[in-house]
Amino acid sequence: MQVTNTIVELRNAVKTWRMAGAHFAFVPTMGNLHVGHLKLVEEAKKSADKVIVSIFVNPTQFGMGEDYEAYPRTEAEDKQKLDAAGIDLLFLPTVGEMYGEDALTIVSVKELSNLYCGASRPRHFDGVATVVCKFFNMVQPDVAFLGQKDFQQLAVIRKMVKDLNIPVEIRSVETVRENSGLALSSRNGYLSPDELKVAPKLYQALCAARDEILMGKKRYSVLEDEAMAYLQEAGFVSDYFSVCRASDLLKADKQDTNLVVLAAAKLGRTRLIDNICVSFAR
Ligand code: PAJ
Repeated sequence: MQVTNTIVELRNAVKTWRMAGAHFAFVPTMGNLHVGHLKLVEEAKKSADKVIVSIFVNPTQFGMGEDYEAYPRTEAEDKQKLDAAGIDLLFLPTVGEMYGEDALTIVSVKELSNLYCGASRPRHFDGVATVVCKFFNMVQPDVAFLGQKDFQQLAVIRKMVKDLNIPVEIRSVETVRENSGLALSSRNGYLSPDELKVAPKLYQALCAARDEILMGKKRYSVLEDEAMAYLQEAGFVSDYFSVCRASDLLKADKQDTNLVVLAAAKLGRTRLIDNICVSFAR
């Protein structure tokens, strides 16, 4: 596995592979790798000749008072995991390498970035879109792998790629979960033992909502209120619980058949997000 901190070396490696006719896949991450990240890598390996992974805790997607400083950085363990997974290149840029001193350009996917997580984390998705756009320009992968765990992030990146005609195919990978149902996340490490017992209830609430929708419940606002009350009772401070259209994340109505239920809630100081897709025939 080649490891580099510089854009020049990254581009040189990519150029050599491109000239040899290789098809290559890219997996962007912020590190502290868990089995969910490694699932993306596994899928990437199946689909391409070469796999590039980036690890970069991107400051521009963290707001004031968020966990940028505290975000877990586990470079040595991450390197071992990626080496064992058989990737070809690990890109580990510094903040200076990524942004220089004088960056003025922001990629902003309007409207979509202000909903749900964007409402409570202003400019978060601008930070995500900007850094992912920069990575796509540096790596120029044929295909990039992203997790469904961050459903709104996936939607923002798909829209950016479409609107900016970026020649990359976006593939999504299903959320990897603990046996309890809790979605794997680098932020789960912040949870206390007591909070870890409660955390799976977020996914349980999503499963309950999915089951009610599949049983024919159409009053989605009632369902959302019930779920918020259930989560509050369990000890969460709910941010949102929304039944949406999977295509554009706008509120679903009775006619829609491809849905996603999006949820975010805080448990103590830890913000958890999760979602579940629901499709049915009318
Ligand atoms: P990070 O949180 O490290 O996640 C990297 C990728 O792993 C994302 O595509 C995310 O959706 C996916 N992922 C996280 N948990 C997962 C799980 N339990 N199952 C499957 N996939 C999972 O998301 C980011 O980093 C950043 O915003 C990034 C896209 C790298 C831009 O900075």
